[in-house]
Amino acid sequence: MTVSSDQHIEGKRDVTFRVFRLNPQVDSKPYFDDYTIPVERGITVLRALNYIKENIDASVSYRVFCQAGICGSCGMRINGISKLACTTQVWDELPKCREAGIIRIEPLRNLPLLKDLIVDMDPLVGKMKHYSNWVVSTMEESEMGRKEFLVSEEEFSRYDKATDCILCASCVSECSILRANKEYVSPAVLLKSHRMNVDSRDGLHDVRLAELVQDHGVWDCTHCYRCQETCVKSIPIMDAIHGIREDAIESRGMKDTAGAKHAEAFMSDIEKKGKLVEATLPFRTNGVAWTVKNLLPMAVKMILKRRTPPPPPLVKASKGMKKFREEFREMSEHVKEDHKTHKK
Ligand code: SF4
Ligand code: SF4
Ligand code: FES
Repeated sequence: MTVSSDQHIEGKRDVTFRVFRLNPQVDSKPYFDDYTIPVERGITVLRALNYIKENIDASVSYRVFCQAGICGSCGMRINGISKLACTTQVWDELPKCREAGIIRIEPLRNLPLLKDLIVDMDPLVGKMKHYSNWVVSTMEESEMGRKEFLVSEEEFSRYDKATDCILCASCVSECSILRANKEYVSPAVLLKSHRMNVDSRDGLHDVRLAELVQDHGVWDCTHCYRCQETCVKSIPIMDAIHGIREDAIESRGMKDTAGAKHAEAFMSDIEKKGKLVEATLPFRTNGVAWTVKNLLPMAVKMILKRRTPPPPPLVKASKGMKKFREEFREMSEHVKEDHKTHKK
């Protein structure tokens, strides 16, 4: 489908938008439609889609509201990366096209598809509810409206960036764990959970944290940093994830989770030997009974194929351990101090 222009006017050219299409009510499988339209420099992907919808094919469906990078409605994958259509310049995308002059537009991943470029946000909202992503005020109801709950500038600076989140779900779409496990809490929910947990007005810290360390929670994150790299508001999402983990390890009652034990065993190995003692890591993380029940068949196969990791006495410490250990301890002290400062 084409509305062509004079290809050679400077700052104006024909661009093809290859748009993902699927209407589950009538289509048995997805397909792509190509729309070639004249585009001027300075036009966003969203305006190009609006042009297609108004002039070529009114059935193309996508979500849009503010058109200014504020509401988070227009998240979609443009040339394979999740971003906002209303703040993405067509001209910036042209050098990234796999096929010259063809910009690929697809829906976000990791959320159910409703139609074309529209995904269902309900699973994300459901997770926000599950992890109580709001402040539960510690103020007595009788005092509300009569008393101010003041937040210092220093405290606000701890969650200032996190409040920029517009729930566009771009980070959700890029999360490597969500691709394998849709139950995973998701980066946006971890960000919001931590933002609430460091708010002095909130009284639900322990309940929220207890939920975050359960299955599909914070310990499942692989630290791939993909969410942070993709965030359309440049929010340091990983700081929130690290913050929740440190909080969980320090809080009484959370040390018994497999995630916390794994982190402690990992750190202990690195401090002692500069490398992992893999043979005993599952026992220290999940206990003897769980490991025997779940990993014995795999261990037998590994023994038969002579692929077992060496037993602890044969794991020699890395070279230069004395210096490494000093630096490691110094770094651990810094992290603890930093954490104390953040908690104040
Ligand atoms: S760092 Fe964690 S939350 Fe972020 S994308 Fe990777 S697995 Fe997902
Ligand atoms: S953290 Fe960033 S990418 Fe994720 S939903 Fe919020 S604004 Fe979008
Ligand atoms: S339409 Fe609101 S962020 Fe794009």
